[in-house]
Amino acid sequence: MSEFAPRILSGIQPTGNLHLGNYLGAVKRFVPLQDEYPSLFCVVDLHAITAQLVQDDLAGQTRSIAAAYLAAGIDPKRAIIFNQSRVAGHTELAWIFNCVARIGWMNRMTQFKDKAGKDRENASLGLLAYPSLMAADILVYRATHVPVGEDQKQHLELTRDIAIKFNNDFSARIAGAGLGTPIRMGEETVQGYFPITEPLIGGPAARVMSLRDGTRKMSKSDPSDLSRINLTDDSETIAKKIRKAKTDPDALPSEIDGLTGRPEADNLVGIFAALAERSKQEVLAEYGGRQFSEFKPALVELAAEALGPVTGEMRRLIADPGHIDAVLRDGGERANEIAEATMRDVKTIVGMLQG
Ligand code: AMP
Ligand code: TRP
Repeated sequence: MSEFAPRILSGIQPTGNLHLGNYLGAVKRFVPLQDEYPSLFCVVDLHAITAQLVQDDLAGQTRSIAAAYLAAGIDPKRAIIFNQSRVAGHTELAWIFNCVARIGWMNRMTQFKDKAGKDRENASLGLLAYPSLMAADILVYRATHVPVGEDQKQHLELTRDIAIKFNNDFSARIAGAGLGTPIRMGEETVQGYFPITEPLIGGPAARVMSLRDGTRKMSKSDPSDLSRINLTDDSETIAKKIRKAKTDPDALPSEIDGLTGRPEADNLVGIFAALAERSKQEVLAEYGGRQFSEFKPALVELAAEALGPVTGEMRRLIADPGHIDAVLRDGGERANEIAEATMRDVKTIVGMLQG
């Protein structure tokens, strides 16, 4: 337990269409958090250029993620919705974190290895440093909790490592400047400037899998469009994709244990549970013993009911870019106030001249 005031931050890259994994693993889970904690939801446009520098329509993609946040029910008056590049503190702090983090830490990141592929020498330096910018996104607001899908776990561990190393390396300066906050680390309490952020990963859809292969993550980069449900798909397309989703020949089990070794069944039950806001066990209590020929139509109906209003509202919002831009501008100003205060402290701690 730390003494830091709780604050939520999460981010999504404006690259490609949002899919059901992004929605159930991330966006939908943001909505109830805004009622409990001060929250910031960011569109990470600086991260978007790490894998591919020249993007067809970065501004349009940024608006479409912002539209998804709004359509899902995030209230821009309470939560702060903004795009990363508006707030200079992210890149300033990322530079300092580039000097805190070790190259070895970055080389171990599985997302880097996946995205860089075989020709690692030819990946951008930004792709290698990506997690350090992500740590800055979080820590420039001294966010204590970060809701994400399971694939981001390793990046959040790295964020914690960066916070711990910064707090340790500068502990005397932090105390000298009177900027320390007590942080409970196991048995002992230490003073630090950055919180040791907790990931919020969970629920039945922390890792939504491909509809074509239950062992692979649903992803924007899968060449098969049948593998994912996009938030831009109409209800007929969604129905077709669910009907064609890979399954096995057996009936659904009545207990969670019965999903072991049945990745496709597990995935569809998880999707059902997340859309219905129920647990997998509750879904199995109702559908255990039934065939996919019965379960799939129920899932089609549920998906249309749960996603229809969100996708419809997204389309309506995207048609009015002026409104989205105003939300992002206002959010950027509010985010900047917090980030600037952090950067003044950080520069004092590191020993940079100001004023
Ligand atoms: P990205 O599109 O990579 O910026 O991811 C945005 C958010 O969606 C992050 O919190 C991811 O962890 C989450 N996410 C991406 N893919 C999936 C998936 N297949 N299942 C659950 N969450 C996911
Ligand atoms: N790396 C995250 C992803 O690919 C996106 C991201 C960037 C993020 N900065 C963040 C998520 C800060 C949470 C908090 O999904």
